[in-house]
Amino acid sequence: MILILRVNCSIVFRVTEIPEHLLKRSRDRKSGDGASSSDSATSAEGSVPAVQKAVAPAKTAKNEPSVVLAKPDSPRVAAAKSRKKIPFWAMATLSLLPLWGFLYAIALKPAAKVVEGPLAVGSHVYAGCAGCHGAAGQGGAGRILHQGEVLKTFPHIEDMLNFVYTGSQAYVSAGIKQYGDPKREGGAHAPLSYNGNPMPQQGETYGGGLSEAEILGVVCHERYVIGGADPKSEQWAEEYETWCSPESEIFKALETGGTTFDSISKDFSMLKTKPNEIGTKPRATTAK
Ligand code: HEC
Repeated sequence: MILILRVNCSIVFRVTEIPEHLLKRSRDRKSGDGASSSDSATSAEGSVPAVQKAVAPAKTAKNEPSVVLAKPDSPRVAAAKSRKKIPFWAMATLSLLPLWGFLYAIALKPAAKVVEGPLAVGSHVYAGCAGCHGAAGQGGAGRILHQGEVLKTFPHIEDMLNFVYTGSQAYVSAGIKQYGDPKREGGAHAPLSYNGNPMPQQGETYGGGLSEAEILGVVCHERYVIGGADPKSEQWAEEYETWCSPESEIFKALETGGTTFDSISKDFSMLKTKPNEIGTKPRATTAK
């Protein structure tokens, strides 16, 4: 019994310093109980040696840890030990929760809309055309566009917008024998006349994946970046300002739904150079 008490005392002592008055009280009680004469002697020796005494038996205790460990857990401790713990990998995930919450809050804020002009939009969209027409428009499965070639076919941007919207198959179905400029240098282009393959339709009513604004963007890219039209030249400056510059009102209206390929010639009839009809059905050139 005494041994257990001492062991307990020494273990506690190693963790926290026990105030001297408590040690003294303990000793007094023990001696009052009529404990062994050696304990009475200890208390009589005064307070300082008591500490040494408490430390000394700890060495003995190391040899008999089972005395302490043998104590059964209280129901509460036992429940805590048997309870399922959070697995270590879940801890890693859970510790990221605050970060996730932070990012979520940021994402909820409406992002400032990045306004892109037709050429910026067009350069993204052209990635889907480059596989056939070549990164620089040098041609491949699709016709050559660079070095002014596409400008020869379509001196008027409206005809090119119509052809890219419908694709060449719709021209064949409609029985229209040529697209673009009938007086094209080197001869008018007939649908399926390049290598027998069609230009795939891009517009929504034919199941294509591009919006009308995106079609205008990619057509601007093919004319001004790939085809070589100079936006500052006398020949192209007006077309560029009206259709392809970052300030193009037509492009903005297409993006917001304020106009469509079918209504553009009416919607923008107030412009100095009135746009020709674009339309979403195959047709012969409307340019005069
Ligand atoms: C699957 C291959 C393919 C893809 C992809 C493709 N084209 Fe074509 N494109 C062609 C073929 C083939 C022709 C020739 C059509 C014909 O002869 O009827 C053509 C013709 C054209 C023409 C007419 C050129 C001329 O001078 O006659 C334009 C303009 C054009 N494509 C633009 C585009 C744009 C814009 C895209 C991307 C949105 C695109 N093409 C994607 C195959 C393709």
